[in-house]
Amino acid sequence: LSESLLGNLELTGTLALAVFTAALGSLQFGYSLGVINAPQKVIIENHYARALGVSLERSRMLGNSTDLPEEPKDPSVVMYWSLSVAVFSIGGMISSFLVGFIADLRGRVKGMLMVNFLAIIAGLLMGLCKMWMPHIMVIMGRAVMGFYCGLTSGLVPMYIGEIAPKAYRGALGTLHQLAIVIGILLSQVIGLDFVLGNDEMWPLLLGLSGAPAILQSLLLPLCPESPRYLYILLGKEQEAKKSLLRLKGPCDTTSDLEEMKREKEEAAKEPKVSIRSLIFSSVYRQQLIVALMMHLSQQLSGINAIFYYSTSIFEQAGVSQPIYATIGVGVINTIFTMVSVMLVDRAGRRTLTLVGLGGMCVCAIAMTVGLKYQLDLPWMSYVSMVAIFLFVSFFEIGPGPIPWFIVAEIFSQGPRPAAIALAGCCNWTSNFIIALTFPYIQALMGCYVFILFAALLLCFTLFIYFRVPETKGKTFEEIAAIFQKKRPMAKHSTELDQLKTSTDA
Ligand code: GLC
Repeated sequence: LSESLLGNLELTGTLALAVFTAALGSLQFGYSLGVINAPQKVIIENHYARALGVSLERSRMLGNSTDLPEEPKDPSVVMYWSLSVAVFSIGGMISSFLVGFIADLRGRVKGMLMVNFLAIIAGLLMGLCKMWMPHIMVIMGRAVMGFYCGLTSGLVPMYIGEIAPKAYRGALGTLHQLAIVIGILLSQVIGLDFVLGNDEMWPLLLGLSGAPAILQSLLLPLCPESPRYLYILLGKEQEAKKSLLRLKGPCDTTSDLEEMKREKEEAAKEPKVSIRSLIFSSVYRQQLIVALMMHLSQQLSGINAIFYYSTSIFEQAGVSQPIYATIGVGVINTIFTMVSVMLVDRAGRRTLTLVGLGGMCVCAIAMTVGLKYQLDLPWMSYVSMVAIFLFVSFFEIGPGPIPWFIVAEIFSQGPRPAAIALAGCCNWTSNFIIALTFPYIQALMGCYVFILFAALLLCFTLFIYFRVPETKGKTFEEIAAIFQKKRPMAKHSTELDQLKTSTDA
């Protein structure tokens, strides 16, 4: 009983405020991911085409960006539209490398505060795009927004992971993904044509993606800095203690401080790890492979093929109002992320990832069967639709949220920022590749396209089964020890020395 009481005591108002405030960044990320889909037809036909001097008749032949490549399209409009969509990921790929630098520069809280000006500029560029050439303004706005989201997708899980009590680290870490999916859903609903997804209001729809940054900037000054950053990185014990007390409420901080002290001693043995040394040193290789594979499994599962192209997939499956089915996917997505918040600290990361990936693999096969036979057997279209909904549910149980926070869990303070930067870049790059290539793969493979994802999902399930340890309820120290146990001790310390010498030099 006393343990559960203590556990409850750890969830204070300040902790809730800090996590909520950080997650506003994730909300913005989700909103920006989803916002570009609904209004694309209006934007292409009425604005890009006009600005580029292409006649409406010709631009109508564009359809939407989910069409297969052989459709007739006006090349310049297509080019500007594809760029507006893709430049977001390019911004994210570049900036995710800077996460460690920004996080260590002035701390996690000031880091999040500093980068907010990017979101506000991006929002203004898109919101005011009718004032100048809309296509250029939108492309610039999306690029800056992507750059901001690349930073936020690393800074938020890092901050939450560092301030969360270990019993709730999974649930609080999953809130990053919950905010992302709420952002996606919000953008789908506000993007309906009778809300803001119409000829008049679409710039506001895009511009609103900067709004959470304003609220976040007002709240961040009230949030305590990460005690781990204060103590382990800056050596400010008193400030770290103050921060801990604000986060945990009046309680004995001795055990937390001791844990951080041991982590600091460990960190003193380690050099400050750069991205380059993380890639080339074998000291952290096991953790790095696990981190990258977790992010690859999230993206190569095919989830964004569903998100970016669900409307056309539903059309194929014979749904008459596919946009509502797409919103249905957004709702299921949100519900199952909530389920994950409740389960992740009980069932564990490893179990949920395995169940999620395995379930997705079966659904991908069912989707293929449904798509293949739906012309002969009309009820088969229900099979593909149910399979899509289950596919998304399994994703949100584990493979969606867990990669985002597990990287902060499996690396100690020294290499953590560099590891988050590398994993983030891997996520953004694979996301970009899927978005770009899916229509072509679909054209090539037809209804068998999801078999490809099923095969990848099977490989990832096997990898997680054999290589990923459980991290639930363990301290950062204990987790580091699991990975080090896999390596002979003598070898480990010689390599650490080598890494230290090379970084010192
Ligand atoms: C994860 C993925 C993102 C995807 C989203 C869907 O956050 O990183 O690419 O769109 O989940 O819920």
